[in-house]
Amino acid sequence: MENVNKPQTASVSSVTRRQHMKNKIAVISLTIVLSACGAVKLATPSDADAQRGSQKYPGLSLASLNEGKALFEQNCARCHGLKDPTKRDEEKWNAVVPRMVKKVNKKVGHEEIDPKEQQLILQYLVTMSTVKPAK
Ligand code: HEC
Repeated sequence: MENVNKPQTASVSSVTRRQHMKNKIAVISLTIVLSACGAVKLATPSDADAQRGSQKYPGLSLASLNEGKALFEQNCARCHGLKDPTKRDEEKWNAVVPRMVKKVNKKVGHEEIDPKEQQLILQYLVTMSTVKPAK
C-alpha cells in the first residue's frame, strides 16, 4: 500500500530505482566493452596438455606451457584482443606467430620477444589448439 503522506519514502525508492538502473547500465556497458575487445577465456594448461605437447615438442613441460601462455597474454593483446588458441590449427599458428612477433618487436622498438620466447608462445598455442572444449 502506498502512503501518499510520506513523500520522502517515495523519493528514496525512486533514487534506489535510479541507482539500480545505473548499475544495470554499467553491467551492460562492461559486457559490451569486454566483447568488443574479443575477451577470450584461456584454458589453464594441464598435465595432460603438457603430456600431449611433449610428443610434438620434446622437452615441453607444464612450466614451459605456462611461460608461453604468460608471454602470449603480455604481448599479444597490444593491438587486438587475445586470439583463441583453439580457433587456429598448427599450420596456421606456425605461419602467424613469427609474423606477429615481428609486429610486437617493431611496435615496442626492440627485441621484446626473442626466438626462444617466440618458440614458447608457438608451442603453447599449438598445444592448446587441440584442447577439447569444456562441455
Ligand atoms: C603491433 C600490433 C600487433 C601485435 C602486437 C600483435 N598483432 Fe596480431 N595482428 C595485428 C594486425 C594489424 C592483424 C591483422 C592483419 C594481419 O593479419 O596482418 C593481426 C592479426 C592477427 C591474427 C589473424 C591473422 C590471420 O591470418 O589469421 C592472429 C591469429 C594474430 N594477429 C595473433 C597475434 C599473436 C599471437 C600476437 C603475439 C605474438 C599478436 N597477434 C600481436 C597486429 C598485431
